[in-house]
Amino acid sequence: MLSTDKAITQAEISKETGLSQQTISRKLKELEEDGIIQRILTKEGEYIKLTDKGEEELKNCIEDVLQLILRTRTLHIKGKVTSGLGEGRIFLSLPYYKESFMKYLGFEPYAGTLNLVIYDRISLENRLILDIAKGIVIPEHREPNRVLGSVKAFPSSVNSLSPAAIVIPARTTHPKSVIEVISPYYLREKLNLKDGDEISIEVYL
Ligand code: CDP
Repeated sequence: MLSTDKAITQAEISKETGLSQQTISRKLKELEEDGIIQRILTKEGEYIKLTDKGEEELKNCIEDVLQLILRTRTLHIKGKVTSGLGEGRIFLSLPYYKESFMKYLGFEPYAGTLNLVIYDRISLENRLILDIAKGIVIPEHREPNRVLGSVKAFPSSVNSLSPAAIVIPARTTHPKSVIEVISPYYLREKLNLKDGDEISIEVYL
C-alpha cells in the first residue's frame, strides 16, 4: 500500500502554483518519465508523490540555493531601537568577551549592546538565515564556577557605520525578533539614536 501522507493532488498543485491543470499535467508527465515523481491511484483519486530520487534532487537543489544565498549575499535587516535590561553591559564588561571580540572581530566593543526589534517579514527571514549561516564563533569559555556561553557574530554596518557586528549568544532569552549589535562606538550618540528610531543593518556573511 502506498502512503499518501506526503502526496498532493493535481488540483492542489494548480491552486498552489496558479498554473493551469493542463500545464501541470504536461509537466507531471515529464517528471514521471524522469523518475522524479510517482502517481498513486487510490479510491479517492490520483495523488502525486516525490520518488526517493526526486526527494534527493530537491534536497540538493535547496542546498545549492542556500549556499548561493550564504556565499553571495549581504543581508539587510531593519529594526527599531529599543532598551533592554542592561544585560549587554554586564556581558561585554567580562574580560573574556572583550578580549575575544578584539581577537575575532578586530575591535574592542563599547560596553553594551544596542537592541533592535525587527518588525518586517523580510528582516525577520534574514535574521533566521543567520541561524544557519556560519558566522564567526567565539567559543564557550569555562571558568571554575561558571560557563561563558559561545556567541556567534556577524560583521555588519549600522546606518552605513562600521565596524559593528550582530551578536547572537548561544544562550539567550531574546526572541528571534530582537537583535543585539556591538560596536566600538557608543551608537546612540554617534548616530543620534533614541528608542523607536529605525535603523538599517547590512550584514556581511
Ligand atoms: O539597557 P540595555 O540592555 O538596552 O543596554 P546595554 O547593553 O546595557 O547598553 C547600554 C546602553 O548603550 C543602551 O542604551 C544601548 O542601547 C547603548 N549602546 C550603544 O548606544 N552603542 C553600543 N555600541 C552599545 C550599546
